[in-house]
Amino acid sequence: MRIKTGIEGFDELVQGGLLSDRVYLVSGPPGSGKTTFCVQYLAHGAALGETGLYVTLLESPQNIIDDMSNYSMNVLTLIKMKKLLFADLGPRMEYGFMDEMSEYITPEYEVSTSAGEHEAPSPAMVFREIAAYVSEYDVKRLVIDSVSAIRFTTRDLSLQEKEMSRFIRNLKKLGCTTILISEMTDPSAYSTEQFAAHGVVFMHNFLYDKTMTRAMQIIKMRGTKHDCNMRAVGFSDKGLVVSGLLE
Ligand SMILES: Nc1ncnc2c1ncn2[C@@H]1O[C@H](COP(=O)(O)OP(=O)(O)OP(=O)(O)O)[C@@H](O)[C@H]1O
Ligand SMILES: [Mg+2]
Repeated sequence: MRIKTGIEGFDELVQGGLLSDRVYLVSGPPGSGKTTFCVQYLAHGAALGETGLYVTLLESPQNIIDDMSNYSMNVLTLIKMKKLLFADLGPRMEYGFMDEMSEYITPEYEVSTSAGEHEAPSPAMVFREIAAYVSEYDVKRLVIDSVSAIRFTTRDLSLQEKEMSRFIRNLKKLGCTTILISEMTDPSAYSTEQFAAHGVVFMHNFLYDKTMTRAMQIIKMRGTKHDCNMRAVGFSDKGLVVSGLLE
């Protein structure tokens, strides 16, 4: 089954949408639109009745909610309907932080992990927390922002690769369609998550002739006949819009 992202100009590049129950990667440099892409994907599903969960590991959910409220995705309404959930699994730095949205953000989160207060969580800890959310709320669309912030329990690179592949293999069994975000500054340096994911989308944001240029490119999409070109990316009041070939 194909899952529509709802992002204007994207679904038609991948035979109508993402294959369900798989794990995808959206990678790119800072400010390239990764978060916007993923919140649009969740909001589109939520509007169709599919519960979406956005897991943050670095940034506070409140910042993302504030930023995405500028678009017409109805983020606040979907959160209040509990069709769009945000879970903060990053280091707990904001004890005592309270505001009107806090009851919708990780309401039952407890510091049950063995990591220190300022330490990033390990893949196993992140997976455990996510699996609990997915079964409790019947989550169908999942986003993890970002896998670059997951703390490996070893410094050995080959063991880190095993840990990441295991994490992704476990995510595939959750019964939801997942997008992992990864920070990417060097497009020629492939990471484990790029090999292990079913599909990889790069968001480009680069200086060309004194102007910042945004583009999107589908690097791989298993089982799908897809476009491989750099496509221009712009913003509308709905969020990201993918358009024609980059000139
Ligand atoms: N309404 C808008 N119109 C045009 N551009 C916008 C608008 N709102 C945000 N942007 C652009 O979107 C960028 C942020 O996008 P987003 O947060 O999705 O990127 P990101 O890849 O997740 O960034 P980061 O790596 O910092 O998390 C901003 O830096 C800004 O350039
Ligand atoms: Mg982001």
